Amino acid sequence: MSVYVANHHSSVLKMHSWRTAQNSIPYLLPSIKPDMKILDVGCGPGTIAVDLAKLVPSGHLTGVEYLAAPLEAARSHAAREQVQNIDFRVGDVHALEFADGSFDVVHAHQVLQHVRDPVQGLREMRRVARKGGIVALRESASMTWYPDMPVLREWKDLHMRVSKARGGNPDPGS
Ligand SMILES: C[S@@+](CC[C@H](N)C(=O)[O-])C[C@H]1O[C@@H](n2cnc3c(N)ncnc32)[C@H](O)[C@@H]1O
Repeated sequence: MSVYVANHHSSVLKMHSWRTAQNSIPYLLPSIKPDMKILDVGCGPGTIAVDLAKLVPSGHLTGVEYLAAPLEAARSHAAREQVQNIDFRVGDVHALEFADGSFDVVHAHQVLQHVRDPVQGLREMRRVARKGGIVALRESASMTWYPDMPVLREWKDLHMRVSKARGGNPDPGS
């Protein structure tokens, strides 16, 4: 099991909570139908998950996280938004505890770059999607920026070393 390097400090959860379905996964929204069953893998504090649940009023959204830590924030957010067709549970993308073909849409946002074996993660996501369903990811293949700044290069080198030392795969490629 790899360890999520950024951890779930309140500052990290705050940054993730800025994300909405509209600002983070607009590419997926036209494919969502009201009765769909959706799985959000690595859902974090659940703001994208809750937005997706609102789009499937006669369907359901399940959010999964490998640790319980961010799920408290996710459940509170769903309660605040009065969204009830949603549940959150602990689970690992490398070995999802769902039967084959359980979901119409299996989704992840910014997750596979943090896991030990992204290809195994993709296999599992595909396995639990129904035939003809959708497996949707928005991920980083690698990190780059301009202008080149020594302090950011130093940060990236440190991030890579720590992430690899903790079992992650921070540069999964496309
Ligand atoms: C960058 S955050 C993204 C959270 C959320 N998807 C979002 O975009 O706001 C990555 C999330 O993946 C989760 N994660 C890391 N390893 C995982 C694994 N093996 N299985 C499931 N989730 C995992 C982390 O706990 C973390 O919350």
